[in-house]
Amino acid sequence: MDLVDGLEIMGGAPLHGEIGIQGSKNAVLPILAACLLGEGVCVIENCPQIKDVADTLEILRRLGCRISCEERTVSIDASGSNEFEISGDEAARIRSSILFLGALLGRRRKAVLPLPGGCAIGARPIDQHIAALRQLGARFYMEEKIAADAGELKGGPVRLALPSVGATENAILASVLADGETVIAGAAQEPEIDELCAFLLRRGADISRTEEGGIRIRGGRKLGAVRYRMKADRIVAGTYLLAAAATRGEIFLQDIPCRQLDALVAVLRGMGAVVSCENGGIRLTADRPLRAVSYLETAPYPGFPTDLQSPLMAALCRARGESRICETIFESRFRTVPELRKMGARIRTDGSCAVVKGIPGLAPAKLCAPDLRGGAALVIAALQANGRSVIRNTGYIARGYEDICRDLRGLGAEIRWLG
Ligand code: EPZ
Repeated sequence: MDLVDGLEIMGGAPLHGEIGIQGSKNAVLPILAACLLGEGVCVIENCPQIKDVADTLEILRRLGCRISCEERTVSIDASGSNEFEISGDEAARIRSSILFLGALLGRRRKAVLPLPGGCAIGARPIDQHIAALRQLGARFYMEEKIAADAGELKGGPVRLALPSVGATENAILASVLADGETVIAGAAQEPEIDELCAFLLRRGADISRTEEGGIRIRGGRKLGAVRYRMKADRIVAGTYLLAAAATRGEIFLQDIPCRQLDALVAVLRGMGAVVSCENGGIRLTADRPLRAVSYLETAPYPGFPTDLQSPLMAALCRARGESRICETIFESRFRTVPELRKMGARIRTDGSCAVVKGIPGLAPAKLCAPDLRGGAALVIAALQANGRSVIRNTGYIARGYEDICRDLRGLGAEIRWLG
């Protein structure tokens, strides 16, 4: 969909209805980079039509891959790819371009790419990526670009100092074609990592989780063709569950891997919503005012996901009582606070924590999305406000939500794109 720059929302009514959920952004991005590994054609089904995917496909094209798209089915043939340098501004725009570092080292033993972009939610260093790849034999020459080579890319022990999702994915992408066995200790536990492993297994890789939660790869095997269907996006699903709870509605989301949302479901139940996993999906009913959350901190999976922290904050603005939310993953993920205050929300922040004092109602306002999940949070706030709100900078939202307007209209919201 085009990047229109504005959403109009007539809030004040509960959400109700049933929809499906797009494929997962944070699972498909590493999988697209993994299509560079090996020669077989990779067909990805249920690929979300979002800006970050479009940018990633453009990077693959510039690397010499043949790409064809049919709605949400994308096929990637990397057999003609001889490039190892990523040019163009797509790579500098998105965070996940950093995953081509591992994939190019895996395929070409060389990589040159710009420093990654992504939402301004923190410094987002890449020291863990570099440390992990160095443990596999890569050498780095860092000027204004990231340049690396790995003549001797060899499998071996890799230990991450923190469970970085991207660094775990880069270590996997680099080691799967390297000779020898690699064990990644301290690996991230996010489901998106397991979906990348499942995809590589289907291509013929020998990859599995260790008992301690690490990842073991017996490298050097040839990877073949695959047809793979993406699972639903847990963060998009969680966003809509919070929107339904905040508007005291009742919704059913089809085909959701419920277990992946355990931390959110526990919080929603604590707030007074009734949530059940049934018929392969998830149902939420919230027919009374929500309770505040006395204390919550975001954490690596299976803890409460940082990507749902802003949406939760928006849902807590009208909850009964005072909530305290601490953000432990990224250092500037409270950029929705000034926007929510425009609607009358009572939020004070001190360092990495925010205290939300519930109020009876939010006022509609003209708002500006500060980042991807912050933009989604403002949509949740506007759905609660009686009257017309407008949200600008919605290009951020389109990076991760295929069509938030289509989805929420499917749940009964009065919402439309402007422009
Ligand atoms: C992935 O980002 C996701 N993005 C993020 O989703 C998500 O919030 C994050 O994981 C945490 O779950 C994609 O998958 C494309 P990290 P990533 O490396 O890999 C620090 C969204 O809205 N760190 O796990 O960049 C880092 O600063 C996006 O969909 C280092 O210090 O996250 C952060 O504090 C936003 N050094 C923490 O670790 C490093 O080398 C977690 O980062 C790498 C990370």
